[in-house]
Amino acid sequence: MELFDAIRTRRSVRKFQDRPVEDDKLGQLLEAARLAPSWANMQCWHFIVVKDKNRKETISELSYVEAFFAPKGYKANPAKKALAEAPLVIIACADPEKSGVLWDQPYYMTDIGIACQNLWLAARGLGLGTVFVGVFDEVKLRELLGIPSNIRVVGLFPVGYPFEEKAGGPPRKPLTEIVYQEKWGG
Ligand SMILES: Cc1cc2nc3c(=O)[nH]c(=O)nc-3n(C[C@H](O)[C@H](O)[C@H](O)COP(=O)(O)O)c2cc1C
Repeated sequence: MELFDAIRTRRSVRKFQDRPVEDDKLGQLLEAARLAPSWANMQCWHFIVVKDKNRKETISELSYVEAFFAPKGYKANPAKKALAEAPLVIIACADPEKSGVLWDQPYYMTDIGIACQNLWLAARGLGLGTVFVGVFDEVKLRELLGIPSNIRVVGLFPVGYPFEEKAGGPPRKPLTEIVYQEKWGG
């Protein structure tokens, strides 16, 4: 698939076929993440691959944070079922000490974000689907997976073959609203 086609047609996939993901494809996803650029090439990331059914179900249960979802009227994370039903879930973690901070901006989030987008686009290119799940109980997830307290859990990615091809996604702001010429607002 052409790169721009993958960028244009990538979607959040939350429903999967009952079909396993081949190990070589999983390897390519992780390789795409590994090759991402990062602050001073410090590569702050770690990834955990979870295939165990019970563990995926517990992760799914931990994908609700009341303070975040309740005010929006959500009773569950829209990706809750995906986390339990996908053949595998990739947990994206970052070590903030292995990245930079400048003007109060912690660049570990940028580093892991780029790696995760590489993974997401690679999934699209390989005919797979996934979604970035950013809302979850980080403390309980750390306990479940034995993740040290200095490591941040940034995203959960249920991965599988999409149940259906999505025609389109939520609209994006037009360039005229987000791009300026020469100066802010220009
Ligand atoms: C940082 C981040 C966190 C997200 N967290 C969630 C989440 O917890 N649950 C969910 O269902 N979708 C989540 N999403 C998916 C977004 O809702 C989705 O990307 C957005 O609506 C655009 O749709 P698209 O990915 O199909 O283009 C997240 C996306 C990002 C980038």
